[in-house]
Amino acid sequence: MTAIPDNWHLLHSAADIAQRVAQMGAQIRRDYAGKPLTLLVVLKGSFIFAADLCRAIDLPMHIEFMALRSYGDETTTSGVVQITLDMRFPVENTHVLIVEDIVDTGLTLDYLRQNLVLRRPASLRLVSLLHKPSRTVRPVTIDYLGFEVPDHFIIGYGLDNAGQCRNLPDIGYIAP
Ligand code: PRP
Repeated sequence: MTAIPDNWHLLHSAADIAQRVAQMGAQIRRDYAGKPLTLLVVLKGSFIFAADLCRAIDLPMHIEFMALRSYGDETTTSGVVQITLDMRFPVENTHVLIVEDIVDTGLTLDYLRQNLVLRRPASLRLVSLLHKPSRTVRPVTIDYLGFEVPDHFIIGYGLDNAGQCRNLPDIGYIAP
């Protein structure tokens, strides 16, 4: 049973998300046809989005994983991004598409991009399901975006509330 807080409110239903992910997958398929593609999944939050998105992209691809963490169990970023799991696959000369669940302050993606550029990919782009533009600290170019979300604490579809609620099929927010 998912521990859903009482003050949880729906933002995007599982059906809405599925429709948007299918659209994003079709767009990515068109853009990457004929190119060696690596989907780089940023754990933990994006694992559900990535599982759906990769099946909506009808192309050959490698799927790699990194884990980054800056929030811990808090609702605001610590400001310090940690790589807690790195990939071993050499991405040099491959087209890397980073898969994120949410860009909030942009600190995580800014840090990750700087790290990945040193590995000399043929190209480096970002797909993020969610963006919270009101909280931007480091502006990040999101090449493929699912939805903009308001400045609330977002949970579900991979996003956690102190480690819980990642398995909630919908996306919602906890009212302040
Ligand atoms: C979340 C999310 C992004 C990051 C975005 O990760 O998955 O990676 O925060 O926030 P930012 O734009 O303010 O940096 P979190 O640190 O919560 O780790 P998790 O994915 O393991 O839950």
